Parts: sequence; C-alpha cells; structure tokens
Amino acid sequence: MNLLQQRMQDELQNKSLFEQAKTNAYSYMNGIRKMDTFPSKPNLENMAYFEEPLPKQTCNAIELIEKLHEFGSPATIAQTGGRYFGFINGGAIPVSLGVKWLTDVWDQCGGLYLTSPINSKLESICEDWLKSIFNLPPATVAGFVSGTSMANLCGLAAARFHLLQKMGWDINEKGLGGAPAIRIIAHEQAHASIKKTLALLGYGKKNIEWVASDDQGRCMLEKLPPLDASCLVLLQAGNANTGSFDNFDAICDLANKVGAWVHIDGAFGLWAAASTSLSYLTKGMQKASSWAVDGHKTLNTPYDSGVILCKYPKALISALQATGEYILYSEQRDPLLYTPELSKRARAIELWATMKYLGSDGIDTMITTFHERAKQLEYGLTKLGLEIVNEVVFNQVLVATKKEKNTKELINYIQNSRECWLGGSTWNGKTVIRISICSWMTTEKDIEHTLLLFEKGMEHVIT
Ligand SMILES: Cc1ncc(COP(=O)(O)O)c(C=O)c1O
Repeated sequence: MNLLQQRMQDELQNKSLFEQAKTNAYSYMNGIRKMDTFPSKPNLENMAYFEEPLPKQTCNAIELIEKLHEFGSPATIAQTGGRYFGFINGGAIPVSLGVKWLTDVWDQCGGLYLTSPINSKLESICEDWLKSIFNLPPATVAGFVSGTSMANLCGLAAARFHLLQKMGWDINEKGLGGAPAIRIIAHEQAHASIKKTLALLGYGKKNIEWVASDDQGRCMLEKLPPLDASCLVLLQAGNANTGSFDNFDAICDLANKVGAWVHIDGAFGLWAAASTSLSYLTKGMQKASSWAVDGHKTLNTPYDSGVILCKYPKALISALQATGEYILYSEQRDPLLYTPELSKRARAIELWATMKYLGSDGIDTMITTFHERAKQLEYGLTKLGLEIVNEVVFNQVLVATKKEKNTKELINYIQNSRECWLGGSTWNGKTVIRISICSWMTTEKDIEHTLLLFEKGMEHVIT
C-alpha cells in the first residue's frame, strides 16, 4: 500500500471527515430559512478563495470540507428554503436527501444489473409506479436520466427511429443522410430544451412546422396543419412561463388517427396528473407516445432526476442502442438500455424514496398545495393592485405593474432584499415578474412574507 492509499484508508476508518461534512450540512440546514435567497456581493467575492493552480500535494480532507462550507455554503442559492421562486427549481424532501447520502456511499454504477442489482430493481419499481401515477399504457417503459432535457432527447430519438422505420428506413444502419423526411410539428412556445434537442438530432429551426400558440402559450388547435404518419408532434404539459397545458385530448386523437407520434414535454407540469383536483389539466395525455418529466422540479427529489417514458420500448431501446462485447446484459432490467449513458448514477433510488415516502396521497397533497400557494399569491398581488398576466392554472404566476420600468425596478427591489428570489421574463411582449411555486417548504407564511415584500417594493419604486 502506498502512502496515499494509507492516508485514504485512515480517513475511511476514522470517519472524521464524514463527521465534519455532516456537521456542516446540519448547520446549513438549520440556517436555511434565515439565509439570503441569493448570495450577497461579499459572499460572491469570497469565492475567490477557490482560485489557485492545481495543488501539487494532497491536503487535509477535513480542512477542505471546512473551507468548502465556509466559502461555498454562503455562495449557494437558498433553494431548499421555501422562498426561492426562480426557474421552477424544486426543493428536496428530507428523506430524498437522506437516501442520497446513503446511496452516495454505495457509489453504484447504475448502467447494468451486474453493476448494481439494487438500482436495477428500484428502477423497475419506479417504472411501475410512474405508469400507475400517470395512468400510462401497460407497454410503457421508463429511462432514468439527468433531467427533462435529456428525457426530451431520448423521446425524440425514439420517435425518429420509429417514424423512419415505418417508412422503411433503419436510421441505425443508414444514418440521416438521404432519410425520408419527418415532419416536425412544434408550437411557438416549445421549451428551449426541445429546440436544443432538435438541433442535436440534426433538425434546424427551418425544418420545423411552427404552430401559433394562444395568449397562454397553448398550441392553437385550429392552426394545426393536417397530420400524417410522418409527423412528430411536440406538446407541452406546463408552459415554463404561464404553466399552461396543451389540449392533449384533441391533438392526440388527431395524431393517433394517422399514426403520428406525440411527445409531451412535461418537465414540471406532468405531475398535475397526480393531483385529484388538477388532473383535468392533463386530460388525454395518456394517448401520446412519449413523455418527459422531471423528479427534481415538482416532485422535489434532489437534482439529477429526469425520466423518459415511452409507449414503444423497441423504439426507445433501438434509438439508444448500446453494443460492445464487454457489455454483459442480464435477464433482469439493464438500465443502460433506456438511457444514452452507460455509466450513470443510481439516481432512480432517490425518486423511489420520494414516491415511497409520499405515497400517492402525499404526492397529490404536495402538488395541490403548490397550486393553492400560487392562488394565494395571485389573490394577494391582485389586492395590491398588480396585474396577473397569466391564468394561474398550476404553479406559475406572472405579474406586472402598470409601467414596464416599474416592473423591472420591483424585480430588482425584491431580489436585492434577499428575502425571496423571483425572476423576470417577458410574456406577450410585456416585462413580467415570474414566480414558480415548486418547493414543499413554501408555506402560507412564506407567501405572506413575499406579499409584504411586494408591498414595500411598490412603495419604493412606484412614484
Ligand atoms: C417545460 C420544460 N421543459 C424542459 C425543461 C428542461 O428540464 P431540465 O432543466 O430538467 O433539463 C424545463 C426546465 O425548466 C421546462 O420547464
């Protein structure tokens, strides 16, 4: 054993570095409610501590962790604190963090049954549970990926394989050059990740038949072109600004009549299907061919949790094909068949833990509560005389003042308070404040606190 090995063996044995990490993590958790939602300037500047050339020698592990806590923790976003309303970032429920800690110690390579039987088993369970929550067709398979961007990539690659195969073209053999054309139908409000995915798959903006969307960002049914069997139709459960949902029922019926493929990007919105009072928003979504959804947004798993669900297992597996003599497949579920990655974190275990802990009732309650908090905010902001720009159907609230300039100033005022964080956006040409309620931590009191900040901010900026 060399000296380095000896040193690391000792660290593993005496556990003090893990104790240090635990102490710092607890201190972070205990302070989260009082923490700045966005780091102050001095705390951002303190990150300069990390600037150094790659050290030549090993260092003390406990000191490393202490310094990361000292300079790193204050430079984080208070994502898990209950008043962070930016970017549809979810929180993380406690059990999911606990399970992440344990499984980090396992350090499983989740690609094969042979490299992690437990990951393979819990992926299968998650697949079954997700199918039951979303009421998806029995043939549906799930792949556990890093997020919805990756899930969209998998879904669209599966669609491309399937549609081309039906036209007698094996893309895995022949590639894209000379392939029959696929008609891609997307609406103007398709998320950036869809546009990114299409580019990655070799489709430019000009290859897409763009459909107009209405004032809430929903695909306009009457503007949909006639569909045929070469069509890939891209719909959305939850517009990233307004939170609106497309008309899945009607569009899927049109698509299914001619054998077109419908993919639903449901990063945060697909979970509306798990809420008894909100499931009407996703009516008919089961008739699509593939669905992309995140665990790390609405479901509040830790980050690195997205899922592709696909009704055509062969299309998904073929599109993500993996071959190599050394890949030893088993009779059990081999996760790499359903994702682009080979080696991957056993990420589905946190998803399993979150669903197991909450149960279907808990998931229903959590998601319904996001909506209730959004409505509370809508009510309070309206009373303050602000304009609510969207129909608050789910967890998104878009707000504006009468003057564009004041809206921008109000965003700055609230952000600078560091007591809550919300972002800016534009909607139908108007500058808006964009609020996403997406954390289990957010309570009525947090919304009241936020409304007080708005009130103070309006006194300050509206003259
Ligand atoms: C509608 C929609 N699709 C896709 C994505 C991308 O998801 P991810 O960031 O998990 O890759 C988002 C992210 O906010 C989204 O809102």
